[in-house]
Amino acid sequence: MNMKADVQFENLKYRKEGHIGILTLSRPKSLNALNAKLLNELGDAVDMINSDASVHVLIITGDGKAFVAGADIPEMKDYNSEEGREWGELGSSVFKKVELMKIPTIAAVNGFALGGGCELAMSCDIRIASDNAKFGQPEVGLGITPGYSGCVRLPRLIGQAKAKELIFTGDYISASEAERLGLVNKVVSSDELMNVAIELAGKIASKAQIAVRYSKLAINKGIETDINTAIVFENQIFALCFATEDQKEGMNAFVEKRSPHFKTK
Ligand code: HXC
Repeated sequence: MNMKADVQFENLKYRKEGHIGILTLSRPKSLNALNAKLLNELGDAVDMINSDASVHVLIITGDGKAFVAGADIPEMKDYNSEEGREWGELGSSVFKKVELMKIPTIAAVNGFALGGGCELAMSCDIRIASDNAKFGQPEVGLGITPGYSGCVRLPRLIGQAKAKELIFTGDYISASEAERLGLVNKVVSSDELMNVAIELAGKIASKAQIAVRYSKLAINKGIETDINTAIVFENQIFALCFATEDQKEGMNAFVEKRSPHFKTK
């Protein structure tokens, strides 16, 4: 099913450039802070994009000077423990949806990525940051722990020691430090950010999409499981590729010294 590119949300903007979807979180007056409305819209948008066969790569970015400055502090400040649990579950389940998208996702981090913002970026497959971006998990300064899976994804991405330092201090780090730690794939100037993200998305979109999606699945499942099971799983996924037209096309094109024309079949 092809999704219309002009679907309107209150706090999100969505457009398509060819096979690339570009989703912009847009509550700029609150630095795109995640309130329940925005989180629910994000979940709905992910569902819709997932069902749009024409989208091969999704870029997520923020409107204005922030990617996302965290969960909405005024919205959660008076929660009791049960409401806090539901609030955490809402964000974590939406970010899990992002992580489990069958297509690759790129966070184009255009400014502050703090708390829930850093957690959203970490639920994407790849992070490109502008040189003015700042990353951090400042929750302990507010009397809470990271609650949208930051305690889970940050140590997996950058190792326990650095994750603990960042979470225990609440310090913000620059984009270049985030790149050095492996939290960010690449740092570019703000002017270049979207072009670089779109170029990267375009390169991925030009490959055999079933193979790209199977690779994502094999990596995600492989990280979650023991090495022997992961290798068996990769082998099964690899075998399935030989049942696709794209595998025949890719290899025939190589042999015939021409460019392949993939059909996602
Ligand atoms: C709600 C927020 C917000 C947030 C900023 N704003 N962050 N509103 N929730 N997380 C609002 C401000 O109140 C202000 O609104 C407007 O955005 C602009 O922000 P300023 O502070 O004026 O901008 P600036 O001086 O440039 O400072 C930027 C900043 C600062 C350093 C990012 O805004 C900041 O420290 N924000 C909070 C960052 C944070 O602690 N994030 C983690 C949240 S906890 P007004 O109306 O005053 O103009 C979290 C937990 C996730 O994310 C897990 C939950 C389960």
